[in-house]
Amino acid sequence: MNIPQSFIQDLLARVDIVDVIERYLPLKKGGANYFACCPFHSEKSASFSVSPSKQFYHCFGCGAHGSAIGFLMQYNGLPYVEAIRELARDAGIQVPDDGRNVRQSDDHYDRLIEIMAAAAKFYREALKHSPAATAYLGKRGLSPDIAARFDIGFAPDAQTSLQRVFPNYQDKLLNTTGLVIDNDQGRRYDRFRNRIIFPIHDRRGRIIAFGGRILGSGEPKYLNSPETPLFEKNRELYGFSLAQKAIRAAGFAIVVEGYMDVVALAQFGMENAVATLGTATTPHHIQTLLRQTSRIVFCFDGDAAGRQAAWRALENALPALRGDITLAFLFLPPEHDPDTFIREKGLDTMLEAAAHAAPLATFLLDTLRQRCDTTSAEGRARLVFEAKPLIARIPEAASVLRLQLVKAIASASRLAQDETEQALGILPARRSSPAANATAYGSRQPPPMRRPPPSPAAALLRLVLQHPALAARLPASLVPDNTDEGRALIAIIDIVELGEAVTGLGALCERFRDTPHGETLNRIAASLIETEFDPSVVELLFEDTLLKLKAGVIAKEIAELREQARTGTLSPTEQRRLTDLFKEKNKLPGFTGHPDL
Ligand code: UTP
Ligand code: MN
Repeated sequence: MNIPQSFIQDLLARVDIVDVIERYLPLKKGGANYFACCPFHSEKSASFSVSPSKQFYHCFGCGAHGSAIGFLMQYNGLPYVEAIRELARDAGIQVPDDGRNVRQSDDHYDRLIEIMAAAAKFYREALKHSPAATAYLGKRGLSPDIAARFDIGFAPDAQTSLQRVFPNYQDKLLNTTGLVIDNDQGRRYDRFRNRIIFPIHDRRGRIIAFGGRILGSGEPKYLNSPETPLFEKNRELYGFSLAQKAIRAAGFAIVVEGYMDVVALAQFGMENAVATLGTATTPHHIQTLLRQTSRIVFCFDGDAAGRQAAWRALENALPALRGDITLAFLFLPPEHDPDTFIREKGLDTMLEAAAHAAPLATFLLDTLRQRCDTTSAEGRARLVFEAKPLIARIPEAASVLRLQLVKAIASASRLAQDETEQALGILPARRSSPAANATAYGSRQPPPMRRPPPSPAAALLRLVLQHPALAARLPASLVPDNTDEGRALIAIIDIVELGEAVTGLGALCERFRDTPHGETLNRIAASLIETEFDPSVVELLFEDTLLKLKAGVIAKEIAELREQARTGTLSPTEQRRLTDLFKEKNKLPGFTGHPDL
C-alpha cells in the first residue's frame, strides 16, 4: 500500500488538527494554542498543547508529539496507512492507492472483511453439528456461553468445506485472506481442517484472522492465519476488542500467552486479559494497552520458556516506560498456565496473584542477579555490563525509575552511585532533568551550564519550521552539513526546490517520517510549540541568521586562502577570489569595519 506523499501533504493542508483532536478530547483555548489533559499519560494539569498555526501537538509532560496523522496513530493505535485513511474518510477525501482509486481499494478491504465474517459464521455453525468438537470444548471446560462470546467455531474435517460458503471457491481474494492454500499442483484446499477455530478480531471487533487448535494432540497444536492485508500479528492482541472495557474498569490489563488462557480467564470473570499471537510481546502491543490503562501485568508460565518470554517482553517494554505506568510480571507455578490456574484456584487467587506480580524493576534485578554471580568481583562487573543496554533503553520520561534501578544496581555491584552511573554510561547531560538532579547531587548543585548559542543552521531550521516558505529563500550551499540540523535543513530546501508544496510544521514532519531527519524535525517541532513570533520578527531573525551564515562561509574561505598565501602562493584566480571575498564581506551590513571577521 503506497499512498503518494503529495496526497498526504494535501490532506494535511486540508484538515485542521484542532478539529481532529477535538473529536477525542475537550480542548480549551489559551493564547495561540489549545490545551487538554494529555490522553497519553495520566495527569491533572493540562500539559497537552495543540498549535493550529503549526498543525502539531506536543505534551510537555510525557513528550508525545506529532501531526494529525500521528495523533490518530497514537490515540487509536492505528498503523500509519490506516490513520491516513481515517483522516481522509472523516474529511470526505478519497485516498488514492497504488494508482487504483479509493473505492476500489476500500471495497477490496471491506470485501476481505466480509469473507472473514462469512467464514467465521460457517465455522460457528459447523461447531453445532460436530459432536467431536463440542465434546472437546466440553472436556476443556468451556461453557457454551463463553464459546459464543468468543465466536469460537469448528473447521470440518474435509478438504474444501469452504466451497459451501464461497461458491466461487477459486476467487483470488480467498487466497488473500489466507483461508485457502494453493498447492504446487494448482489445487486449492482449506487451510483450517478438523480444528477448533478461534477468530481473531481487530480493535473494532472485525474478524481479521483465525487460530485453529487441533482436537486433542498432534502437530502443529495451533495453526494461525498467515500475515495478510488484514492481519499483522505483531500488532494484534487476541481478545483485545472484548477486553477493552474490562481493562479500563479493572485498572489493569493482563497479557497471557494462549487463546485458551484468555477464554478461560474471561469465563471465570477476569475479562481484562489479552494474548499475543504466538509472538513475543512487541512495543506495539504495549502501546496499544497503555492507551487503555497504566498498569500491565504480564503473566507467564513459571518454566524456563515462560521466563524467557517474560524477559523479551521486558526488553520491549523498556522504551515505553513512563513515570506514571507500572509494568509487572506474574509467574505461575511451573505446572500451570493461566487456564489451568484459574480453573483450579479460582478468580480470587488469580486476582491476588496479579496484584502481587513482581514490578519490572524487581524482575529485572532478580534476573541479572541470577545470571551473574554477585559474590565475585567479576560477576558484579558482569551485572553492570548486562544492565547497561537495558538502562540505556529507559527514556527520560521514566527518569525516577531509572534512578531507582541505578541505585539498586549500585548496591548489587557494590559500587558507589556515581561510579555506577559512569559504568552504565549515563551521560552528565541527562542529569539536567530535575528529578535526577535533586537526587544525584543532593545539595551539591553542579555549576550552571552555559548553553552554547544554537548554530546558525539550527537557528535557521527553527525559523523554517515555523515558516516553511522561508526555505525557498535559502541556498542549500550555504548550509553546513556537519550537524543533524544542517542536514535536515538541506533536505527541506531540496524538496522545496523540487517544487513540493510545504504547508505547515506538522505536514513537514510527516513528509520526513521514517527518514534520517524525522527525529530531528520532530524534536525541534516539539520545542517550538509555544513559540509564536510576529512575522516581522521572523523576517528580522531570518535575515540576520542568513547573514551570519554567509559571513561564516566567507570568513572560512578567506582564512583558507590566507593560510595558503602564507605557506605558498596563490594563483591569479585565487588572488581574484580573495579580493572578491573581501568586497563581499564588506558589503554585508553589520559586519563592515569588523577588522577580524
Ligand atoms: P501453548 O502451547 O502454551 O498452548 O501455546 P495453550 O495456549 O496452553 O493451548 P492449550 O491449552 O494446550 O490448548 C501458547 C500460544 O502459542 C501459540 C498459540 O497462540 C498458543 O495459544 N502457538 C502454540 C502456536 O501458534 N502454534 C503452536 O503450535 C503452539
Ligand atoms: Mn493451556
